[in-house]
This record gives sequence, C-alpha cells and structure tokens, in this order.
Amino acid sequence: MASGKTAVFPGVFDPVTNGHLDIVQRALGLFPRVVVAAAADSGKTPRFTLDERSELLRSCCEKWGERVEVVSFSGLLVDFMNLHKYTVIVRGLRAVADYEYELQMARMNRYLSPMVDTVFLPAGDNASCISSSLIKQVSHLGGDISQFVPEVVAEALRKTP
Ligand code: COA
Repeated sequence: MASGKTAVFPGVFDPVTNGHLDIVQRALGLFPRVVVAAAADSGKTPRFTLDERSELLRSCCEKWGERVEVVSFSGLLVDFMNLHKYTVIVRGLRAVADYEYELQMARMNRYLSPMVDTVFLPAGDNASCISSSLIKQVSHLGGDISQFVPEVVAEALRKTP
C-alpha cells in the first residue's frame, strides 16, 4: 500500500456506474484513502446536477466508511489537488480507445502541476462496455441497466428520464 497517500479519483460521474465503483474498490487496495471528486467543469453538459451526482456517489460509497470521501470541485483538477496537497490521480482504463485521451490528460495535468501524477488501473471485464452515456440511453429506451449501476442510480434514472 502506498502509505500515507490519498488517491483522487476524478470524473463527471453522470451518473456513477459499477465500473467507477470497481475503480474505487481497487484503488482502496493500493491507497489508504480515496477522494472521489465530481467535476463541475469537463466540457460536457451533464444530465444530473453536480449536487445530484455527488449525492448519488455518496450513497454508493458510504459502504467504505471514512476511507472514501466524496467531494465536488470546480475549475482545474490540479488546482483542487494543490489546494489539498494531493498528488495522486487514479483513472480507469477500459479499452485501448481510452488510452490516448487519458495519456493526454495525465500529461497536461503533470505539465500544469509537476507534483501531480496519474496512476491507471485496468477496468474490470464488465466495465469495458459501460459508459455513463450508454447507461442513460439504454435506461431512457427501457432497457435493463440493473447489472451496470447500483439500485439507487437506476432509481434516479427512472425518475429523470
Ligand atoms: N467504468 C465505466 N465507465 C467509465 C469508467 C469505468 N472505470 N471510467 C470512465 N468511464 C466512462 C464515464 O462514465 C464517461 O462516460 P460518458 O463519456 O459516456 O459520460 C467516460 O467514460 C468518461 O469518463 P469520466 O470519468 O466522466 O471522465 P471525463 O472524461 O468525462 O472527465 C475529468 C474527466 C472530470 C477528470 C476532467 O474533465 C477534469 O479533470 N475536469 C476538470 C477540469 C480540468 O482540470 N480540465 C483539464 C484536464 S487535463
């Protein structure tokens, strides 16, 4: 375990899926504490508000107790990291297609703040076909998403078609 280090897992989480939670679970095997950080600024127009996304994340992460904290942030991720003296970002890689984009972000973050580095975790097999957009689309069209998201998220999607 990387002793004393807190890992920050940033994302839009619109909404959180089992794929994201798998990354949190596995990051906890490497770091004593994980901060899940919901981003206000990402270039996307989310379906759920920042508060709703954070609340859903909190419900899904409460099983890990104090080892996982859910926060939201606006502005640059590296500014949030520097403010709290965090230096490790954790991101999941689902497929080769993720790699280039993730590498670009990791390099940009490191350029903006040389103290900040990114650790990639290979996403679990089940996560390779999940994305928040696909989950929203399948749910909207009446498909079964129960194996891809926690019940609280499925419920929220039913209420916010
Ligand atoms: N399992 C399942 N799905 C996953 C996944 C996993 N392990 N990891 C990512 N995904 C999906 C997400 O659901 C999302 O799906 P969508 O595109 O259909 O919505 C997609 O992959 C992208 O993942 P996400 O975690 O939402 O990342 P993002 O690319 O939308 O956002 C931020 C990345 C938030 C980290 C980045 O925009 C950021 O840091 N923003 C703050 C502003 C900033 O600093 N910008 C400069 C960055 S260099």
